[in-house]
Amino acid sequence: MSLEKAKIGFLEAFGTEPAGVWSAPGRANLIGEHTDYNNGFVFPVGIDRRTYVALSPRKDMLCRISSALDAKTYEYEISKKMPKNLDWALYPLGVAWVMRESAKSGFDAYIVSDVPVGAGLSSSAAIECSVATALNEIWSAGKSRQELALIGQQAENEVVGAPTGIMDQTASMLAQKDAAVMIDCQSLETELVPMGLSSQGLVVAVIDTRVAHRHSDGGYRSRRDACEKGAKKMGVSSLRELGEADLPQMEEKLDDVTYRRCKHVVTENRRVLDAVESLKKGDLARLGELLLQSHASMRDDFEISVVELDTAVELAMEVGAVGARMTGGGFGGAAIAIIDESKMELLREHCKAIFAKKGFAEPNVFSVAPSEGARKDA
Ligand code: GLA
Repeated sequence: MSLEKAKIGFLEAFGTEPAGVWSAPGRANLIGEHTDYNNGFVFPVGIDRRTYVALSPRKDMLCRISSALDAKTYEYEISKKMPKNLDWALYPLGVAWVMRESAKSGFDAYIVSDVPVGAGLSSSAAIECSVATALNEIWSAGKSRQELALIGQQAENEVVGAPTGIMDQTASMLAQKDAAVMIDCQSLETELVPMGLSSQGLVVAVIDTRVAHRHSDGGYRSRRDACEKGAKKMGVSSLRELGEADLPQMEEKLDDVTYRRCKHVVTENRRVLDAVESLKKGDLARLGELLLQSHASMRDDFEISVVELDTAVELAMEVGAVGARMTGGGFGGAAIAIIDESKMELLREHCKAIFAKKGFAEPNVFSVAPSEGARKDA
C-alpha cells in the first residue's frame, strides 16, 4: 500500500515515474535505554512499520523532497548551505548533506511513512535510513550498512541538532525478520538473536501514549550530560567501563542525581546482556522481569518516564503481559509489552478505558512484528 502511495505521490509531485523505491523500518527497543551514547549495549527490533522513499536522480545538483505529511516541497542544493525552515525535511536533506562528497547529482524524492511520529519508534531513523540507502545506490557510494547508519546519526546530530546515539539507525539498517539485534555500541558489532515469539503465540505490543516528545529538547541532552559528568568524575572515558561492582564507589563520589543517572546506565547494560541470554534460552519469564526492572530504573533513577507510560506498563501487566517497559528516549512516546496475541483486544480495551478515566489522551495500541532492515522495494 505505502509502496504504491510513494510511487503515486512521486508521479503527482514530479510528473514522472521514480527510478526506484527504497524503505527502512522504525524500531522498538526491547531493552537497553540511554546506553548507546555511553558505548553500552542495546537490544532493539526493526518493526513492520516502514518509511518508503520514491526517488530519481536529477540532471542538476538540486535535491527536492516532498511527502504525504504536508503540501510543501523542500529544497537543498548540494554544496550550498542548508536552508532554514526545513521542518521534517531536515532529516532526509540532512542525509544528503552528510553524503554530499559522494553526490553525483541532485534528486527528486517523495516520502510516505507508516511509522507513527513522536511515538518513540524512530520515525526519524526510518526516514534517514531509507534515504541513505537510496542515495548510496543512485550515487554508487559503496557504503556499508554500518556506515549508512553512522551517516543517519550524523544527520541527526549535526543537521537536526539532536544529540542522539547510534541505536535507532543501526536497528533500521541491520534488523532482520523474527529477530532482535544486540548492538555493542562501542565496537558497533551486532548479533541477531531469533525472537521465536510467534511459535509461543506471543507478540510485541506497542502502547503509544500519544504524549509527544522531541530529542532536540532539554531532557535528553541533560541526561546525556549527567552521564558524561559521571564518567569524567569516575575517571573513565565512558560508563561502559563501569560495572555493578563499582556502584558503591560511584555512590560515594557522585552527587545523588548524577549517581542515579549513572546507576541506570550501568545496571541497564547488565540487563541487556541478561535479556539476550534469556531470549537465547527461551526463558521468557526472566526476560519479562528484566523489562520491568528496566522500566523501574528509568522511572526512578533516570527519571525519563511520564505517568502515561507508567500506567501503560501497569495495565499491560494487569492483562497478563510477560513483561513491559517504556521504549525509546522517554518523556512521552510508547511502551512495549510482550503479550499473548489473544490478549491484544483486551489490552486495547483496558488501556482505552483506564486512560479515558484518568483524563489522558486516547492511546494507540497495536502489535508489531520484528522485520527486516533497509531495502530496495521497487
Ligand atoms: C533515542 C535516541 C537513541 C537512544 C534512545 C534511548 O531513541 O535516538 O540514540 O539514545 O533515545 O535509548
